[in-house]
Amino acid sequence: MINKKRSEELTFEFNKLYPGGHTNFRTYVETGRTFAMKSEGSHVWDIDGNEYIEYTGAMGPSLIGHRNAEYVAALKDLLDQQNPVMGSAQLYSLDDIEVAKKLIQHVPCCEAVKFCLSGSEAVQMAIRLSRAYTGRKYFIRFTGNYHGWFDNVLGGQYDSDREDQPFPYFDPHSTPANDPYYTKGRSEFGHMECFLLPYNDIEMLEATVEKYKDEIALIHLEAIVCNKFCMRAKPGFLEKIRELCDRYGIVMCFDEIITGFRVGLNSAQGLLGITPDLTTLGKAFAGGLPMAAVVGKAEILNMMSDRSVLGPGTFNGYPLGMRGTLAALRILERDNGAVYQSMAAVQKKLTDGLKALAKQHGLPMSIQGETGVFYYLFGVETDGYIFSEKDECLKHLNQELQYKFWVEMQNEGIFIMRGGRMYMNIAHNDEDVEKTLYAANKAMSRLK
Ligand SMILES: Cc1ncc(COP(=O)(O)O)c(C=O)c1O
Repeated sequence: MINKKRSEELTFEFNKLYPGGHTNFRTYVETGRTFAMKSEGSHVWDIDGNEYIEYTGAMGPSLIGHRNAEYVAALKDLLDQQNPVMGSAQLYSLDDIEVAKKLIQHVPCCEAVKFCLSGSEAVQMAIRLSRAYTGRKYFIRFTGNYHGWFDNVLGGQYDSDREDQPFPYFDPHSTPANDPYYTKGRSEFGHMECFLLPYNDIEMLEATVEKYKDEIALIHLEAIVCNKFCMRAKPGFLEKIRELCDRYGIVMCFDEIITGFRVGLNSAQGLLGITPDLTTLGKAFAGGLPMAAVVGKAEILNMMSDRSVLGPGTFNGYPLGMRGTLAALRILERDNGAVYQSMAAVQKKLTDGLKALAKQHGLPMSIQGETGVFYYLFGVETDGYIFSEKDECLKHLNQELQYKFWVEMQNEGIFIMRGGRMYMNIAHNDEDVEKTLYAANKAMSRLK
C-alpha cells in the first residue's frame, strides 16, 4: 500500500490556489492529488517516493512513453539552436515541410494541414472550414462523443419528444444526471448550431439529413468512440455517413484527437477503411507537446490560402511543437510502425491477464478497445466487441466495482484514469504487465 502524506498536504493547498485544478473534467481528488517528481518510460514517481506504472497516457498524448530518449534529444537540439517560439507563424523551418509530408503519407484523407494547439481548437476550425466550404450553417454530432469544451459541441441531451428535434436541448431537459458534459454557463445559442443525434441510429441520421440537407455543412464524429468505452460504430453506420455526405455535398470529419496515430500508424480511418474529408488530430501525434491539427482535402483547406477563411493563432506551428511532432512521427513510423505491433502484444498479455484474474476472483468483467487504448468494465463478462451503445454499457456497468478497482489499483502503485479507460504507451513491457497483474490480483481480492 502506498503512503501519500505529502501529496495529501499539497492537495489541500493546491485546491485553494486552483479552484477545480488544471482541469476539473475527468479528474477526481477524493484520494488526494498526486504530485509527481519524475517520470521515465512507463513509470512515474511522486513526491512521497511512490513509484507507479502509469496507464493514464496523460489523457492521450503520452504514446511514446515518458522521456523517450530520442524525443528528448530532438527537443534539446532545437532548444540549443533557438527560442521555442522563434517566430511562430512568422519564420518557418524544414521541420514544417517534413511534418506535413509525413501526415500526408500516413493519414489517408490528408492532402493539406492546418496546425493549432488543442483538440478543441482543431474541432472549431473544422466546423468553420466546413461551413465556409459548403455555405451551410448546421453540423451534426452524436451522443457519447466528445469534441472539446466549447459550447457548440459540449454535451446536450437528445430529446426525441421535441417537435423541433433533433436540436439538442439542455435546459430544462439536460441535468448533471442525464448529461455527462453538463455545465452551468453554457450558451444555448451554441447548441442551436448543431443536431445532436444518437450514435449508430442510421434511421434518425437519414431522416435528419434528408430533411435538412441544404443546411448541413458537416458531420463530425469519433469513428471509434474512445470517450465512451472505445465503442466501434455498428456495421454500416460509418458507410452510411460517407454515402450521405457524398450524395449531399456534406463534409465528413473524423475526430481522431484520441485515435490519431494511437490505434495505428494510419489512425482509425486506416484501420476502418473509411476516408473522411477532414480529420482533427491532437494528443499522441506530437509526443506530449500541445499540438493539434485539421488535415484533409486540399480543396477545403485551401480556403485559407486567399484568407476567405481566417485561421489565426499566435502559437500555431511553434518550432518546439513541430520538432516534437517530427520526432514522435519518426519514432512511430520506423520499420513500418513496428512499435504498434510490440505495444499490441504487451497489451494483449495485460488484457488477457486481467480477464483471467477477474474470472478467478468471480468478478464479471469485460475489456474492449483498440491497440493503445482500452476500457475495463466491471459488471458483465463478455469477450471481444459487444457494445456499440453507451447506454448498453452503462446498463451493465457496476459503478461501485469500477470505482473500487481504480482506488485499489492506485493503492498498489498502478495509476489509471478513474472511468476505466487505460492508455498504453510504447514503453510498457512484459515486466510492467507482470507487476500490474500482481497488483490487480491484490486489488481484486479486496473488491468483494
Ligand atoms: C475526441 C476528442 N476530441 C476533442 C478533444 C478536445 O481536445 P483538447 O482537450 O486538446 O482541447 C478531446 C479531448 O479529450 C477528445 O477526446
